[in-house]
Amino acid sequence: MNTYLRMAEETDMMLLFEWANEMSVRQNSFTQNEISYEEHKKWFQALQQDPKRRQYIYMLGDEAIGQARMELDRETARISYSIRKDRRGMGFGTLLLREACVKAKQDFPNIRTFVGEVKPDNKASQRAFFSVGFQERKYTYEASADQFDSNYVGGGNFFNQ
Ligand SMILES: CC(C)(COP(=O)(O)OP(=O)(O)OC[C@H]1O[C@@H](n2cnc3c(N)ncnc32)[C@H](O)[C@@H]1OP(=O)(O)O)[C@@H](O)C(=O)NCCC(=O)NCCS
Repeated sequence: MNTYLRMAEETDMMLLFEWANEMSVRQNSFTQNEISYEEHKKWFQALQQDPKRRQYIYMLGDEAIGQARMELDRETARISYSIRKDRRGMGFGTLLLREACVKAKQDFPNIRTFVGEVKPDNKASQRAFFSVGFQERKYTYEASADQFDSNYVGGGNFFNQ
């Protein structure tokens, strides 16, 4: 059976709502709180009208088994994706990532870079990104706020040297 991506339609709103609130999708998302239907509806309608975002549904024959979304910022496309729970661990996530990048490049030929943000414990997604040829980049720096108390004296004390 063939897999392919199609654009999401108005009738996919409920399906995407269910998938978005599925437990491991919320856990692996950077915004973890449960989404209300009203919130989702507003978000989905804005998404469908936004020329810089595109929501795809991943099909296996006539069955919807996943979704991928591209959000464009100039020449960079940020990817979010998921596979329906009962279809995970069968290679579809990796296939979806690759097919979504190919499809997005057809739809937006100016894309130069694809970016995926993956939580450190999301091993399946990390492996899928690696398999498709993504490289890990460190974008963020982290520091404990404890070291920035107002009496803190440290770091480069340049002016007193
Ligand atoms: C992430 C997700 C899309 C992966 O889809 P999938 O169809 O399960 O992935 P695949 O079957 O293609 O497996 C990808 C790789 O992860 C490995 N893998 C699969 N399930 C795993 C698990 N639970 N733990 C660790 N590795 C796992 C596979 O062996 C494969 O690695 P390999 O190619 O080195 O053998 C899917 O788990 C999902 O929808 N998760 C919830 C939402 C999410 O996390 N989205 C991504 C946000 S960045």
